[in-house]
Amino acid sequence: MSAPDEEDLRNRVARLSLEQKVRLLTGADFWALYPEPDAGLRRVVTSDGPAGVRGETWDERDTSANVPSPTALAATWDCDRVEAVGRLLAGEARRKGVDVLLAPTVNLHRTPFGGRHFECFSEDPVLTARIGVAYVRGLQGCGVAATVKHFICNDSETERMSVDVRVDERTLRELYLAPFEAILRFSDGGDVGAWAVMASYNQVNGFTMTESPLLRDILHDEWGYDGLVMSDWTAARSTEPTARAALDLAMPGPAERFGPWGNALVEAVRAGHVDEALIDDKVLRILRLAGRVGALDGAVSSSGPVTPPPADVPAELRAAAAAGFVLARNEGSLLPLDRAGLGRVAVIGPNGEVARTLGGGSATVFPPYTVSPLDGLRAAGLDVAFAPGTLGHLRTAAARAPWLLRPDGSGTGAEVRFFSASGELLGTEQRDAAVFRWMNGFETVGAAEEIARLEISCVIRATEAGVYRLGVSGLGQFRLLADDAVVFDETLAMREDADVAETLMAPPQRLAPLGLAAGQSVAVRLQHDVASSPMAGFGTFLQLSLEVPHGSDDEEMDAAVALAAGSDVAVVVVGTTAEVESEGFDRTSLALPGRQDELVRRVAAANPRTVVVVNSGAPVLMPWAGDVAAVLLTWFGGQEFGNALADVLLGEAEPGGRLPTTWPASEDGLPSPRPSDGVLRYTEGLFIGYRGYDRDGREPLFPFGHGRGYTSWSYESITVPADAPGVCVCVTVRNTGARPGREVVQVYASRPGSSVERPVKWLAGFAAVDAGPGETVNVGILLPERVFEHWADGGWTLEGGTFVLSAGPSSASLPLTAEVTVK
Ligand code: BGC
Repeated sequence: MSAPDEEDLRNRVARLSLEQKVRLLTGADFWALYPEPDAGLRRVVTSDGPAGVRGETWDERDTSANVPSPTALAATWDCDRVEAVGRLLAGEARRKGVDVLLAPTVNLHRTPFGGRHFECFSEDPVLTARIGVAYVRGLQGCGVAATVKHFICNDSETERMSVDVRVDERTLRELYLAPFEAILRFSDGGDVGAWAVMASYNQVNGFTMTESPLLRDILHDEWGYDGLVMSDWTAARSTEPTARAALDLAMPGPAERFGPWGNALVEAVRAGHVDEALIDDKVLRILRLAGRVGALDGAVSSSGPVTPPPADVPAELRAAAAAGFVLARNEGSLLPLDRAGLGRVAVIGPNGEVARTLGGGSATVFPPYTVSPLDGLRAAGLDVAFAPGTLGHLRTAAARAPWLLRPDGSGTGAEVRFFSASGELLGTEQRDAAVFRWMNGFETVGAAEEIARLEISCVIRATEAGVYRLGVSGLGQFRLLADDAVVFDETLAMREDADVAETLMAPPQRLAPLGLAAGQSVAVRLQHDVASSPMAGFGTFLQLSLEVPHGSDDEEMDAAVALAAGSDVAVVVVGTTAEVESEGFDRTSLALPGRQDELVRRVAAANPRTVVVVNSGAPVLMPWAGDVAAVLLTWFGGQEFGNALADVLLGEAEPGGRLPTTWPASEDGLPSPRPSDGVLRYTEGLFIGYRGYDRDGREPLFPFGHGRGYTSWSYESITVPADAPGVCVCVTVRNTGARPGREVVQVYASRPGSSVERPVKWLAGFAAVDAGPGETVNVGILLPERVFEHWADGGWTLEGGTFVLSAGPSSASLPLTAEVTVK
C-alpha cells in the first residue's frame, strides 16, 4: 500500500495559517481530530483497542465484536490467525466509522503483577514483535491505522502518570524497544510499519515520554519513522517541551478543556520559542496519516479506504479463542472428553456462569452477547448442572437480567432522564443495561452543558425471596429511592491517589439491603448531581449495582462439592475479572480472589475427573496444580469463550496455545511494579520472564512456550543448511499420536562462553506445523541477524563465533541442538 504523495501533502500544509495548523494538533473532542476543509481533511476518528473497536461511545448501545485478550492472541503463536483477527477488527472499525485503532499494546510482561498484562502480548520481545506485526498488517492492509502503544516502558500501572523508569540502554534496546522497532519499521511488499505510535504517561530516565528526546532521536532519526506520534490521553502536560519533542498530536481535546497547546502554542511560535517548521512537520504527519486512512479528499495516492473482507465473526472468534487455549496439564489424558457415554458435567465456579471475556480499563468493549462456559457446554448438548461454589467478584456487579427491568416492566434495562438546573427535562435515554459512562458529553442529548442532574429509573423484580443489596457505584452525590422512599442520600469520594482509570472502572460503591418477597417488584430511582463528581470535567460514569440473595460461603461451597461428587466430570472455572485485572492499577497478589483455591481442592478431592479452567488474562497462582487431572488456561476468551471451551473440552478443536509468558509457581523473585520515591528501577535488566528463571535456576510452574495438544510429537532432526540466506534452521518433527494436531516448533539461541553477559537462551524464531497421525513434517525457520546481535557502545554488535540453536516444544524442553558459526 503506497504512501500519499508527499508534495501534495506539503502543499496542503502550506495552505494553512498558523492558527489552523495548531488547531489540528489537539483532538477536537475525546476521540476525534478536527476536520480542516482548507486541507481537504475530514474528521478522523480514533478508538480503543485492542480487544475490539469500541467506537465513540462507552456503553452497550454501540456493541463491538470482542476478540480474545492480547495474551490469548499471543498464545496462539500463529501470525496468520492474528492477521485475520486484525482484518476482522478493521471491518469493525469501518463499520463504526473509526479510522485509527488505539492498539496494539506491545509493552512487555515485565512482571505478572502488571495491571495491563492481559492487554499486552508476551514477556518475550520476539514473540511480541511477530504477533504485533501480524495484528498491524491485518488492520492496515484494510486501510485502518494501528497505534502501537505505549512508547515506552509503560509496563506497569502504579504511579503510571509520573513514575520515572530507570532502565539501562542495552535492556531498553534489546527488550522494551525491540517490538516497537519491529512493528514501526517492518517493510515488505511496499507495506510500511504502523502508521501511529502513542507516547506513554511515564518518564524514562528522567524525561516524561511526551517530552522525551527518545521520540526524535530514536523514532525519527534512527528509525526514519514517518508516522504520527500521539500522546496517551492527557499525557501532554507542557506547551513548549512537548512541542519541541517529536510529539505530533495531543489527545484528547479540545485544547480549551484538555490540551496544553491551542493558543498557548500559537503564542509560543509567535514569540520564537517553538520553530514553525516543527509545527509544519506535525501537521504533515497528521495529513499523512489521514491520507493513509482515506480521510483526505482528492489525495494523490492515498491508500484507503479498503473494504475488509467479510468475516464470519462468531466462527472466527470461536476458532481464535480455542487456538489460544493452553492445555497446561492433562494427566491420564482426561481431555478430550469422550461425548459417547459422558454423564452429567458439573460446571462449578464463579466464572462458570458469567462470561469473563475482557480485562478492565480502556480496553473495554461492549460485545453484542457473550457465551459463558455454562452456556457453551449447554449449547453443545451436554447434560450440565451448575454451582458457583464461591463468589469470584470483589465488588457488587451491575444489576442485570432477570432482575433489572425498564420502568414500564417492558424488558431488561433502565431509563435515564436528563434535567437542567431548573428541573426542565432535556432528554431521555432508553438503556439495556445498568452501567453508564458518558465520556464525550452526553452524546444523545443536545445542550450537554446544561445538564445538571440525571435520574435513572428501573424496576427491580425479585425472582426469589431474600435480601437484595441495591446501590450505586460512582463518584459524587447520589440519592437512591425505592418505591419513593429515600434509601440513602450520600456523597461518594475516591482515594486521592487513585489513577483516573481506577476511578473510572472501580469507583466507590454504596449498597443498602432490601428484603423482597418472591415475585415482588420495587420501583427504583437513582438521582445524581452531575457537578458533584470531581471527575465531571472528564465524564460522568456510574453503575446501578445489585447483589441477589445467595447462600453463605460455606453453603455454596458444600453444594458445589456435592454436585462434583455426583457428576461424571467436574469443570471448575476459576479466574479473575475486569475488576482484578485492569488498567490503572497493578495487582498486589497473584492469588485467585476469594476462596477459589479451596474450591478447586475440595472439588478435585470429591471427583478425580476434574478439569480446572483458568479464566484470567494473566498468570495466577495455582498451588493445587499438581493435584488435579487437567488444567486449561483460557485467558479472557472474547465473546465466543464458552463455545470455544466446549469445542476444546470435547476435542472438536485442538487447544492450540503455548504460553507467551512464564507461569510462576510463587511470587518469589518476580520483578516488582512498585516505584520507590517515584522511581522504578528495572534492576533485573535483561532477565525478565524465562531469562530470569534460567539465570537463577528457579523452576516456574509452567515454562514459557509450554502447552500440550491432543496428540504427541517427536523431534527428529535439526539442520542449519550452509547455503541458506541468513540463518535458516530446518527442523523435522513427527506426529506420533493418533490424532491430527498442531505443534509450535520453537528455536532458542544461546552463546556458550560469550564475552558479554547474556541470557542462558533466548527465543530466536518459531513456526507452527500441522500434521496428521504418523506424518513427518519439515519446517524452515529463518532467523534474522538481529537474533545474534547485542547492544553495546551505542550500536548493534555481532560477537562473531559459534552460537547454539536448540529446538523443541517449549523453553524447558529442547531435544534438538545444532551449532552455527556467525561472522
Ligand atoms: C490508556 C490508553 C488509551 C487511552 C484512551 C489511556 O488511559 O492508557 O491505552 O488508548 O486512555 O482511552
